[in-house]
Amino acid sequence: MEKNSTYFDRLAEQWDTTRMQDNGKITQLVKLIGLCPGNRVLDAGCGTGVLLPFVKKEIGSDGHITALDYSKNMIARAVSKYGDLGGINFLVCDIMDFVKDVGDAFYDAVICFNFFPHIQNKPRFFCCVWEMLKAEGSLIIMHDISRQTVNGIHQGSKAVENDLLPPGETVKDWLLKADYAVQLVIDSDDRYFVKAVKGDKR
Ligand SMILES: C[S@@+](CC[C@H](N)C(=O)[O-])C[C@H]1O[C@@H](n2cnc3c(N)ncnc32)[C@H](O)[C@@H]1O
Repeated sequence: MEKNSTYFDRLAEQWDTTRMQDNGKITQLVKLIGLCPGNRVLDAGCGTGVLLPFVKKEIGSDGHITALDYSKNMIARAVSKYGDLGGINFLVCDIMDFVKDVGDAFYDAVICFNFFPHIQNKPRFFCCVWEMLKAEGSLIIMHDISRQTVNGIHQGSKAVENDLLPPGETVKDWLLKADYAVQLVIDSDDRYFVKAVKGDKR
């Protein structure tokens, strides 16, 4: 079977035309994160960079974004669209290779926008992200479509048919077991949003 990064490489050229983008909804989701000027953010699985201008608007010129994706074609499109925004480090890298190497307490927010189902080892991801977050930093899992729609799309493609999005309450339980405080869960008919915060439990 082809590598999954190859699958996403093939989707990159058409991504922005096939992906329905509702700017109002993305703005609402980003506001729920609670970003501040100067924050450091990881956009994990950034694709063609749809989220980047929305995050940039919140964190301003003093903020920093790491835009990471393992598809070189997705990153190439993100760079061509938003390379001039400034303050963004674009990386072609597998998320699990990246998270194991980041120094302690670097990010204010790690955002998985339409990305979480593709993470194969979720317990390990939660653990590594914990180390990467500053105190009170947040791990955000969000989708601008419903869980049912996400899972329907994935089940229709052999390459990602097992990459399913669990109910919000299930993800909340996983996060609590990983010592996060879960501040918000939305699992509705048009969006999905989970905000987990690194508390002082460890
Ligand atoms: C559904 S797309 C979402 C893209 C973008 N966040 C958006 O909402 O338009 C998922 C992205 O995750 C990337 N991806 C999947 N598994 C990955 C991994 N293990 N490491 C890094 N990127 C990955 C894919 O290449 C793809 O660009």
